Amino acid sequence: MLLKFCKHNESSTNGGSTNFALLMSLLLVLVAKINGAALNGSNYQYQVGGQRTPADPQVLHLLLEDSDMVRVWGTNLTAITWAHAVNSQQLLEEALTETANIDFIEADIVLGKLNGEGEDMPVMAHPPAIVSDLSLSEFLNRITEFNRNHEGQEKGVKLDFKSIEVFEGSLDILDESIPNMTYPIWMNADILSGPVDQNKTVPVDADRFFAGCMRYKKAALSIGWTTNWGADFREGEYTQDQCDAMLESLTANNVLSTGQGITFPVRAGIAANSQEQLHRLVAAVNETNESTLTIWSSAGDYVDVDKLRQLIFGFGLERVYLDVPEELASQLDLGNPGNGASTFKSLFSFSFVSLCFWALSSWLQRI
Ligand SMILES: *[C@@H]1O[C@H](CO)[C@@H](O)[C@H](O)[C@H]1NC(C)=O
Ligand SMILES: *[C@@H]1O[C@H](CO)[C@@H](O)[C@H](O)[C@H]1NC(C)=O
Ligand SMILES: *[C@@H]1O[C@H](CO)[C@@H](O)[C@H](O)[C@H]1NC(C)=O
Ligand SMILES: *[C@@H]1O[C@H](CO)[C@@H](O)[C@H](O)[C@H]1NC(C)=O
Ligand SMILES: *[C@@H]1O[C@H](CO)[C@@H](O)[C@H](O)[C@H]1NC(C)=O
Ligand SMILES: *[C@@H]1O[C@H](CO)[C@@H](O)[C@H](O)[C@H]1NC(C)=O
Repeated sequence: MLLKFCKHNESSTNGGSTNFALLMSLLLVLVAKINGAALNGSNYQYQVGGQRTPADPQVLHLLLEDSDMVRVWGTNLTAITWAHAVNSQQLLEEALTETANIDFIEADIVLGKLNGEGEDMPVMAHPPAIVSDLSLSEFLNRITEFNRNHEGQEKGVKLDFKSIEVFEGSLDILDESIPNMTYPIWMNADILSGPVDQNKTVPVDADRFFAGCMRYKKAALSIGWTTNWGADFREGEYTQDQCDAMLESLTANNVLSTGQGITFPVRAGIAANSQEQLHRLVAAVNETNESTLTIWSSAGDYVDVDKLRQLIFGFGLERVYLDVPEELASQLDLGNPGNGASTFKSLFSFSFVSLCFWALSSWLQRI
């Protein structure tokens, strides 16, 4: 909405005098104010109230009832606990122990060999590994069975498909398992090339991925960008072009009209540098349905903790899943919103000022 407003102003200015620049800035400030009020009044408000118990099973039941992540306003999604890269018998065993206190199991699927033998099939492993002692089919069955027998301790599942081949090769298994899974299930893939100049990993074909996911209306879509980051990175962001490409892909595949839940997995260190673009993306997707962010991080990744806190409180705890190593989670100190409210305000002012600069500079380029 904000962008449309700015664009409109931009196209109405085709003179070349400096007075126009002044008028332009005034208009933009006005537009920013109007939009500020609108956004503030709706979904972006940060509420300090809402004292929900972390990892309350009801949170997950809410997800279930609506299959649409969007309806979970007022809940603290950062409190949901994750087991990450659960790609072996042993790790699955650990995640499924009654004391593990895990809400969501994240795991990777590649086309590879079960125990290094036989035909290629979907197995649980993270590239470059292509051998596992756990097949996708057993992984899903074990979780379904656990959930059936452990009321109140059920686990959600996030399936990270590493190639379009393994995704399409998994459809038969998913067709059988998913109807029996009464808990949240997320289909994840990196469908676009992302930061920082990532060109080593081939993204999962977006059109084919969306086409397959259409079969599972109750599954949420978790769609992201390939990334290139680590301990030595400082600069780098999800660029406006990369966010626009995501929106285009969603639109082109008619995803926004299906009512499927959407979450954008973003790598903590890069997301911290991309607040404006991510706000714009989520705001744009919300024109039809709401979406969330899932912040993840690899161990050892550089993360600007202050900026990441800003990002999380800027979106609100009810819009952000947090699947990061314990060390980072504790540094974030989310129990202490501190000046969260003012951070939120300054973030907004910051976005508006930047947007206005953007509009002004595109206008200047035209004269
Ligand atoms: C945003 O909401 C808060 C609390 O409801 C209010 O105090 C503040 O004036 C609002 N800001 C704008 C720009 O409307
Ligand atoms: C899944 O559900 C179908 C129909 O309800 C049932 O026939 C089948 O045995 C179930 N499969 C598993 C693995 O529980
Ligand atoms: C990937 O990007 C790097 C740096 O921009 C470049 O040197 C390299 O040739 C690229 N590789 C491919 C396969 O495009
Ligand atoms: C998502 O948006 C579409 C189009 O506006 C609407 O028909 C649908 O009911 C929405 N889904 C949910 C779960 O709100
Ligand atoms: C999405 O945001 C707009 C304004 O930004 C708001 O009017 C609308 O209610 C939101 N959509 C939903 C489904 O909450
Ligand atoms: C949200 O969850 C986080 C992580 O468990 C916790 O630190 C924080 O206190 C919670 N905040 C609220 C408002 O419930």
